[in-house]
Amino acid sequence: MTAPDISELQESLLAEVASADSLDALEAVRVSALGKKGAITAQMKGLGALDGEARKEAGQALNRVKDAVQAAIGARQAALDAVALEARLAHETVDVTLPPRPRLEGHLHPVSQVTEECIAIFGEMGFTVAEGPDIEDDFHNFTALNIPPEHPARQMHDTFYLNPPDDRPAPVLRTHTSPVQIRTMETSKPPIRIIAPGRTYRSDSDATHTPMFHQIEALVVDETTHMGHLKGCIIDFCRAFFDIPDLPVRFRPSHFPFTEPSMEVDIGCSREGGELRIGNFGEGADNWLEIMGSGMVHPKVLEYGGIDPTKYQGFAFGMGIDRIAMLKYGIPDLRTFFDADIRWLRHYGFVPLAVPSMVRGL
Ligand code: PHE
Repeated sequence: MTAPDISELQESLLAEVASADSLDALEAVRVSALGKKGAITAQMKGLGALDGEARKEAGQALNRVKDAVQAAIGARQAALDAVALEARLAHETVDVTLPPRPRLEGHLHPVSQVTEECIAIFGEMGFTVAEGPDIEDDFHNFTALNIPPEHPARQMHDTFYLNPPDDRPAPVLRTHTSPVQIRTMETSKPPIRIIAPGRTYRSDSDATHTPMFHQIEALVVDETTHMGHLKGCIIDFCRAFFDIPDLPVRFRPSHFPFTEPSMEVDIGCSREGGELRIGNFGEGADNWLEIMGSGMVHPKVLEYGGIDPTKYQGFAFGMGIDRIAMLKYGIPDLRTFFDADIRWLRHYGFVPLAVPSMVRGL
């Protein structure tokens, strides 16, 4: 073997590498040079026939060729990879300035829409959104809300009980969003100002009750909040939600174990001609519709939540999201909410891009 042979071999291999225009072609070149039956490998095998100094020199020269070819293959591979990436990026580019497709088909369910509307209103007042589990333990759903085991209020909740995993009381599907009050108190310090929208469950079914429904809860705890704040907050919410600035709002004494005092909240309506309409129709005895429960947080509830009731106080209220959705958007039967009927959704649903906000309007 002579020196020119080797430099010729190197030149021709490097030329092949340079002209490889795909990763497959490059791999073929690699195999033909460095593979078991490759040109360089063949030369290596031939070294055994040489002896002494000649063998050493030829071996070193071959190694240099091998290194040069390997380096060239590495560089070529990097270049081909870069080209492939460029091509892919160019191909997958999304033009974010394009207008949305006109054939946007889906609609938001009224429950989603109304939840967003509530969040927009309460968000403007400084509330943040809190959540809790649908499967709740007896303590959070009842006991910590001042509803001990034999309390008659437990019967009123038509509770779904689950099989107990051990000898603790059976877990329940939460009957209201009020357990989120306790969970929030357990995990955060006052001042607290949260709303908790979510699914709730009671064993009940007719035109205005479904076994699964939705509530939104509000909780405020700090050192100074009093009943005046509760009333102002609820009145502002009702008028903003129904978009009726002079909507009458009435507070009626009531009872909940977890608030003291407790009030039910009525809003103005008319039932004339058998049709229910929300608004200011005068203070007639028949012109009121109950929409939520409210009250000042009971000191025992604060205590269960780990908050000192001699220092802190606050208010809470809760209402049915489905119910206020029916009232606002004139949907007569609650059961239709959960039929998953696409025609119903087209009729009562909302365009997903019209996000409710206090600035743009609900
Ligand atoms: N949890 C009550 C219900 O489901 C509503 C409520 C919440 C009442 C908070 C007072 C305070 O009926």
